Formats: sequence, structure tokens, C-alpha cells
Amino acid sequence: MLALRRLNIETTKRAFSSSAVNATKVAVLGAAGGIGQPLSLLLKLNELVSHLSLYDIVNAPGVAADLSHINTHSKVTGYSPDNDGLKHAVTDATIIVIPAGVPRKPGMTRDDLFNTNAGIVKDLATAAAKYAPDAHLAVISNPVNSTVPIVSEIFKKHNVYNPKRIFGVTTLDIVRASRFVSELKDTDPKNENIVVVGGHSGVTIIPLISQSGSNFTDDELKALTHRIQFGGDEVVKAKAGTGSATLSMAFAASRFTNSLLRALKGETGVTEPAYVKSPLFESEGVEYFASKIELNREGVGKIHDLGSLSQYEKLLLEAALPELKKNIQKGIDFVHK
Ligand code: NAD
Ligand code: LMR
Repeated sequence: MLALRRLNIETTKRAFSSSAVNATKVAVLGAAGGIGQPLSLLLKLNELVSHLSLYDIVNAPGVAADLSHINTHSKVTGYSPDNDGLKHAVTDATIIVIPAGVPRKPGMTRDDLFNTNAGIVKDLATAAAKYAPDAHLAVISNPVNSTVPIVSEIFKKHNVYNPKRIFGVTTLDIVRASRFVSELKDTDPKNENIVVVGGHSGVTIIPLISQSGSNFTDDELKALTHRIQFGGDEVVKAKAGTGSATLSMAFAASRFTNSLLRALKGETGVTEPAYVKSPLFESEGVEYFASKIELNREGVGKIHDLGSLSQYEKLLLEAALPELKKNIQKGIDFVHK
């Protein structure tokens, strides 16, 4: 009976050998949500994933059953909170992606989500620390500037903290930046690799457009920077109370997860920007910062510095640091108070 209530849907019996690559379990926590479902679909199509493990407080077994009919190799399992579902979902995971939590409505900041999402992320991180201490965590739940410190503090509490394995996913900012620049310049967005650093909310998002190789007028530059910093608001407004970016985020998280999988497998030269424990502004009290990261078998490899900044970008950085510091402290305090 108990076994029956835990819906555990196995799609494909292991059709291929159990090399390190084939034994890659990716868990998605919040898998039945607006991001969770399309992200899980994209991960079901990823040949580097051998086991896709889906968890949500509602409907993850249903999403798993649906995806399990897709004729790719990976096994799909779905878990609800019953019968230690979360424990089973994360155990042996190589990567745990967390899009669980509430999204914004018009008029809200990401920080307004803190009261609800901090507790959700804390509970999920606690399960990860207990049952999957060696997993790499990719945190999507907002406010990312604070939820990443929450995950880190939970791992520290359980004595399993490794900063090389905890990431805030900021890929959507990079995806947006390359798309917006390509729209302005009529170029192929694939060739527009715009570096975006800092954090993931409003003024903490710092696009380094001076490094793009293109020229912009001052007005264009200001408008472009604002659009990248507040791209999320565009979607929140257009969705008119029904949520925030889901499909573009699923694309971005799938790209990040794929990059991390490739690096963990041993591929070299894989870089993705991400929000991680970083030495770049530690001396100014900012422990976490997004910049270009070289991913490797351990997770975070070389953390690139920012390179040369224009005067305008220096001002953006100045505005971002105090806000980031506040957001980070809020996350840390949440775990300890
Ligand atoms: P959603 O409401 O559509 O889905 C969230 C899912 O989380 C739901 O299915 C819900 O049941 C589930 N959930 C809630 N509590 C849970 C728990 N304790 N354990 C497991 N699952 C739980 O929201 P969404 O649009 O998918 O957005 C999710 C989060 O991602 C939001 O916080 C949003 O702000 C954030 N987000 C981040 C980025 C980014 O760039 N990092 C981009 C877009 C959205
Ligand atoms: C985004 O950038 O789209 C996400 O952080 C969701 C949001 O609240 O804007």
C-alpha cells in the first residue's frame, strides 16, 4: 500500500551501460510549476541525463508519468511529499535544480517573495544536505540574491558545505541580454555573448555592454541596460498577475544544467555566468557575486574577474554592491535567527 502511494514511475529499463555519464541523476524540485514542467521536458531530451527525478508538493507523479512516455533513454520518477518523497527524489542526485516557490505579481519586487520562498528553499536545502550532500545545487527560486546564501548556510549547518557546488542561476539575464542586443543590432543572438554580472534583481543586474564589441549611443546604452535589469518585469506585467518568466527561464536553466553536466563529465572550456560564493568583492562585504565562471569536474572552477569597465558600468557596480550585501545578509540571518 505504502509502496503504491509513492508514485514512482520508471519509464525505460536501463537500456545502456552504467558509465559515469549514464548514471547522472538530475532532480527538479518544484517540477510541476510554470518553470518546472518545461524545464523537466527539456531535461528529458538531454542525453546526459539518465534519471530525471521530479518532486513537487502537487502533481509531480503526473508530470513524471506524462514525460515518461517520451522515447528518450532516461528514466523518470515522480514524488509527492508522502512516504519520504523528497528524500527519495534527491538521494544520489548529481544535480538538484530548485525552481520551487511563488512567482511575482505586478508591482512586487523579487525581495517581496522572500517571506514565502525563503522557508521553501530552506526546507529543500535541508533535505539536500541530509540525503544528497555531494550534489550540485542550481537555485532558481527568487530572490536568488538571498536564496543562495540560505542554501549555503544550511549546508554549513550540516557540515557538508562546498561552495564549488552551489549556484544561483542567472543565465536568463545573459539570454535576455544577447537577445536584446541582437534585436538592436540586427545580429544573430547566438553570436552576442554579453557578460552580465552582479546579482539577479533590478540594480544588482549589471550588463557589461562595453565588452560586447558593439557601439551604442548613450541613450541606447541606458535603455538597453534598463531593459536587461528589468526584463523580468516586462514578463510579469504582460502575464498580468498569472506569474513571471517560465518558458525562457526553463530554456535558461536547461542550458545551465547542460553546461554543468558537460563540465562534470570532464569537458574543459565550459563557461557560464552564475551567482556563486566569490572572492571578487568579498573585501567589501559582498560574499556572493555573479560573474563568468569556468565550470569543471568539481563545479565552480576559475571565477573570472570583471575585466575593464566603462565609467557608466562602474556606477552600476557602485549601486549594486550595497543592495547585494543587504540581500545576502537577509538570507544568512534567516537561517540563524
Ligand atoms: P510556479 O508557481 O508556477 O511553480 C512553483 C512550483 O513550486 C509549484 O508547482 C509549487 O507547487 C511548487 N512548490 C511550492 N512549494 C514547494 C515545496 N515546498 N516543495 C516543492 N515544490 C514546491 O512558479 P514558477 O513560475 O515556476 O517560478 C518559480 C520560482 O522561480 C519563483 O520564485 C520565481 O520568482 C523564480 N524565477 C527565477 C528566475 C531566475 O532567473 N532565477 C526566473 C524566473 C522565475
Ligand atoms: C526573471 O528575471 O524573469 C525572474 O527573476 C522572475 C521575475 O520575478 O522577474
